[in-house]
Amino acid sequence: MKKSIGIFDSGVGGLTVFKAVKDALPDQNIIYFGDTARVPYGSKSENTIVNYSLQNAAFLLQQNIKLLIVACNTSSAFALDKLREQFEIPIIGVIEPGAKTALSVTKNNRIGVIGTEGTIKSLAYQKELRKQNPDCKVFAKPTPLLVPLVEENWIDHSVTKQVIAEYLDELLRLDIDTLIMGCTHYPVLKDMIKSVVGDSIELVDSAEAVANVVNEKYSGKNSILKGEYNFFVSDNPEKFKILGERIIQSELENVHKVFFTESWIQK
Ligand code: DGL
Repeated sequence: MKKSIGIFDSGVGGLTVFKAVKDALPDQNIIYFGDTARVPYGSKSENTIVNYSLQNAAFLLQQNIKLLIVACNTSSAFALDKLREQFEIPIIGVIEPGAKTALSVTKNNRIGVIGTEGTIKSLAYQKELRKQNPDCKVFAKPTPLLVPLVEENWIDHSVTKQVIAEYLDELLRLDIDTLIMGCTHYPVLKDMIKSVVGDSIELVDSAEAVANVVNEKYSGKNSILKGEYNFFVSDNPEKFKILGERIIQSELENVHKVFFTESWIQK
């Protein structure tokens, strides 16, 4: 059987990454795991996120995957190195591609980053951007209320716009010309964020950035066959399906509930 691309996230938000990868490579089989029983990751400690991420990866490894994409920015920020130490298959996180894209679009080297508390506190984007270009200036801000607002489907709500404007006020005074949406949920709010920041600031979608990397890896291998998609969640498949369909704007089939087992934990 054709091997799949595995993607995991803390929950439903990583479907933004699933959608970007599926649109770029429609012939690839994809297996998605959303840890809906333990979401959110954004406010949890590094240790917890590393443990959860290792378990999620172990589950996907049991599903015969050829590549693992860590869609969750918080997991990418805290657990990527540990995942790479533990597992031998290629693993891609969202931070490195997001930083690379941001540096390719900035003209003044002043880049803003928004994300969960965990992602921003980890300094992962800040370090990665400076590693790729020591001259760039990075201004980072946690914007934790945006995840629950998306989950509440307040995607076009005036309150959401107000929250975005309040959060970004400080960043907008710092002459940034690029803003990284460093969280799975934020691409859903792209139009609204754009309406707040205006045309002079480029938005970087880390979901699209990671899809570009995967596309480079498998380009030329496209066939006319359509990929198969399977979704696994650790809780509440019905809720995942409802919210997920809003995110990917098409029907979500093959959503299964899984139970944690020892074999995940021991690899
Ligand atoms: N998936 C998380 C991220 O991209 C956002 C949701 C959460 O806090 O778990 O950081």
